[in-house]
Amino acid sequence: MRPEDLAPVDFYKLLNSCVVPRPIAWVSTLDEQGIVNLAPYSLFMVVSSAPPVVMFSSLQREKDSARNARATGEFTINVTSVTQLAQVNATSASVPADVDEAKLAGVAMEPGTLVSCPRVAQSVVAIECKTREIQQIGNGFMVLGNVLGIVTNNGVINDKGLVPPQAIDVLGKLGGPLWAGLGDTIQAARPE
Ligand SMILES: Cc1cc2nc3c(=O)[nH]c(=O)nc-3n(C[C@H](O)[C@H](O)[C@H](O)COP(=O)(O)O)c2cc1C
Repeated sequence: MRPEDLAPVDFYKLLNSCVVPRPIAWVSTLDEQGIVNLAPYSLFMVVSSAPPVVMFSSLQREKDSARNARATGEFTINVTSVTQLAQVNATSASVPADVDEAKLAGVAMEPGTLVSCPRVAQSVVAIECKTREIQQIGNGFMVLGNVLGIVTNNGVINDKGLVPPQAIDVLGKLGGPLWAGLGDTIQAARPE
C-alpha cells in the first residue's frame, strides 16, 4: 500500500493503526488571557536525551495547544492513565479557544511547578516544558519542548530511578476508536 493508493485521510488512518500503541500527551497550556487549555495528542515522543526534548504534533494547523505553546513559551505533558479515558476523550472536543476544556470535562488542575501552566492534579506524571521551536513538516506542526522537569506523585519513582508502568496504568491510543491499557509487561536485558 502506498500513500497514492488511498485518499490522504485514509492513508493516515491506516498508518495510525500501524504505529501502535501510542502514548498520549495530555497537553495543558494557558492562553495569553490565562485560560486553561487541555487536549490529547498521541503524536508524542522523546526526541533528544541531552538536552531532554519531547515533541507533540498538531495536524493540519496550529491547534490551540500549539498556538498557546508558541505564544506563552510553555506547555505541560500530563501522562494519561486508563481511568482518565472518558475525560481525555472529552477534552478532544472542538470548542472555542476561550473555553476552559479542563473545567468542561471536570478535570481538576493544580499549579505548575516550573511553568505557569497548570497540570492535571490526578496525573501520576507531568512533564513541564519550555517551548523550543515549532517545526512544520507537511501538514504537521511539531512542537518541540525542552524538559524543565518531571513532576511525579510522591513515592512513584522506584529505587532504580524509574516510574513503574503499573503506577501510571498508562492509557494508549490504537487505530480507529480503539484505546489500550498496559497489558502484560516483558522483562529482557539488553545485550552487552
Ligand atoms: C486520544 C487522542 C489523540 C489525539 N492525538 C492528536 C494528535 O496527535 N495531533 C492532533 O493534531 N490531534 C490529535 N487529536 C485531536 C485533538 O485532541 C483535537 O483536535 C483537539 O480539539 C485539539 O485541541 P486544542 O485545539 O485545544 O489543542 C487526538 C484526539 C484524541 C482523542
